[in-house]
Amino acid sequence: MRHGSSRTAASSTDGAYVSGADSSGTPDTKKTPNGRPTPGTDERVLVVGGAGRVGTRMVTTLRSMGVETRVMTRDPSSEASAKLAQLGAEIVPGDVTDIDTTSLDAAVNGCTRVIACFGAQRISQPKDVLFLFNEDGGPSVTDQTHPAAVNHRGVERLAEACIKAGTIKRFVRVTGMSAGYPPFDFIAVALNAVLSMTIRFQRLGEIATRNLANHGIEYAIVRPGNLLEEPRPNGSVVIIGHNSTRQPSGKVSRDDVAECVLGAAFSDSAKNATIGISGKSFTTGGVTTEMSWDPARGMHYRAVELADEVFEGTDVHAMLGEIKEDTDTLAPGKYQPWVFLLVALLAGVFTVISAVVIAVAKKLLSAVVGMA
Ligand SMILES: NC(=O)c1ccc[n+]([C@@H]2O[C@H](COP(=O)([O-])OP(=O)(O)OC[C@H]3O[C@@H](n4cnc5c(N)ncnc54)[C@H](OP(=O)(O)O)[C@@H]3O)[C@@H](O)[C@H]2O)c1
Repeated sequence: MRHGSSRTAASSTDGAYVSGADSSGTPDTKKTPNGRPTPGTDERVLVVGGAGRVGTRMVTTLRSMGVETRVMTRDPSSEASAKLAQLGAEIVPGDVTDIDTTSLDAAVNGCTRVIACFGAQRISQPKDVLFLFNEDGGPSVTDQTHPAAVNHRGVERLAEACIKAGTIKRFVRVTGMSAGYPPFDFIAVALNAVLSMTIRFQRLGEIATRNLANHGIEYAIVRPGNLLEEPRPNGSVVIIGHNSTRQPSGKVSRDDVAECVLGAAFSDSAKNATIGISGKSFTTGGVTTEMSWDPARGMHYRAVELADEVFEGTDVHAMLGEIKEDTDTLAPGKYQPWVFLLVALLAGVFTVISAVVIAVAKKLLSAVVGMA
């Protein structure tokens, strides 16, 4: 391991960059990070999901820099939309799950960059198991809140609108850190099982995003860890990694994610790159722990070294400067068998426990009847 060399170069105050933290390491979100790229005056950015929590932060920053910004939302009359309109953002209606792409095409029209910061939040339903291996039927087709409709087909639809428009220079997609995990990873299996195969469909959306490079449109993918509504806590750091390199998956402030996505939309280093962003409550110094599971030890923590492509610090833009273009090919991943295995395991455990409870109840009942 290259111990911290390039990693620490990107941390705290760094040459031309002004850190988002003061000298005591206390984050100061009111300071403008100097490393933030300055968009040209000819830019017009569409933020799909711009009225969401990360989206609102990005749109606010874009407007503060004087960038023409359009927000696509399913509810232009919402309070969040009204606030963004007051900042000078253009609010347009649209839903990425609509088969009729008229509003999507209109939203993209005249823009130079698109940020896709939206996602499905659907809890799995028992009937989903019946369609686990058949994505041509069932909820993934009929339910427009399903990750298949939003995170996969929605991204595909938006990407197609960008190709059609012919003016888009870069497309940025916000997914989640576990989209880079292998299908058998415990976190990926658990999230897929609970959230309607969300990781699988995020991955398919990422593939559609990467495909834009074949059409002359640059892409960037940002994979955040668990999101924190509050600003970055005192003394904590941001961790930025390249592509599927494993990095600590601690909570990261939406402020830092919004900053990272803006950097990904404009910085040269983020061109055709997949970027992980997470947080840690202390500087790791190159070694951290992560939750792990194996059949022998069950759930446990293990020590892991940060990979060379993983950086930690407080200056998101400085760390983004270290990011490299993707060189791998992203595969769809065989997620279903692992989820099926977990469901079968849980069903087995449930059956055994039920059988034991019924047997004990029967014995108690016959004992009570015998005594009477
Ligand atoms: N929560 C986490 O811990 C976590 C972790 C990693 C990654 N992420 C990803 O990060 C993204 C941004 O996070 P956030 O906190 O800003 O989420 P958020 O506040 O829930 O915002 C998501 C936005 O997605 C938009 N959206 C949902 N379905 C849509 C559709 N069919 N068509 C168009 N827009 C749609 C919604 O916009 P309108 O309602 O205005 O239409 C919503 O404002 C999430 O969507 C998720 O994919 C989240």
